[in-house]
Amino acid sequence: MSITKESELDGMKKASEAVALTLKAMTQYAAVGMTTKHLDEYGAEVLNSLGAKSAPYLTYGFPGWTCISVNNEFCHGIPSHKTILKEGDLINIDVSAELGGYWSDNGGSFVLGKDINNHQQLIDASKAILQKAINNIKGGVRIADIGYLIETESKKRGYKVIKNLTGHGIGRSLHEEPAEIANYRDRFNNTRFRKNSVVAIETFISTSSSLATTLKDGWTMVGNKGGFMAQHEHTIVITDGKPIILTEMNGILN
Ligand code: CO
Ligand code: CO
Repeated sequence: MSITKESELDGMKKASEAVALTLKAMTQYAAVGMTTKHLDEYGAEVLNSLGAKSAPYLTYGFPGWTCISVNNEFCHGIPSHKTILKEGDLINIDVSAELGGYWSDNGGSFVLGKDINNHQQLIDASKAILQKAINNIKGGVRIADIGYLIETESKKRGYKVIKNLTGHGIGRSLHEEPAEIANYRDRFNNTRFRKNSVVAIETFISTSSSLATTLKDGWTMVGNKGGFMAQHEHTIVITDGKPIILTEMNGILN
């Protein structure tokens, strides 16, 4: 969406605060021995208490309130009684929701407890790259140039990017124009970021895969060549200078 008046910015701020606080609370609540189903139900309680409704559930009928992906699962992991969190797991939580007609989206990867499987470097790369991408987005910048930046920064650190997962416009629904904010230089995309528009910018930094494929459950995505992936996502408003990071209080870049 494009922000045309104060009330719209206000609505986006409220929805973004809800998803940011929920993501932060879930990240802090996650513990060894907990099922992802339990963690998701906790997230649903937080969203509820803030008056927000799960976006993947409303939009796609996703079988959960938030997406929780563990280890080789890249994204859209289904919260399950069978998935029990362990020390050193690479966990990705993605929380998107609607509040008062406004939609916001954010996510982050982290290691549970001690980093016994050495995932922190991948996570730190993803965070640094998201920060750099956001710092370079302003009205008039080509979407493909930000994709190029993400891919270049990723390669520099010895990682790949997932080519079939993208950031997206957001605001009055979960996915809006621009439909695809890729993590590589898409030479067919001549679109530019527009001042006052709202987008969800997200990284998909991986150790070995460059495509994500869907498992038989119809939701969970894993890498075409396996390995691990880290994702960090903020919903932002584009300006003439630095973007306004609406989901800043999730703390993912701290
Ligand atoms: Co998301
Ligand atoms: Co998103």
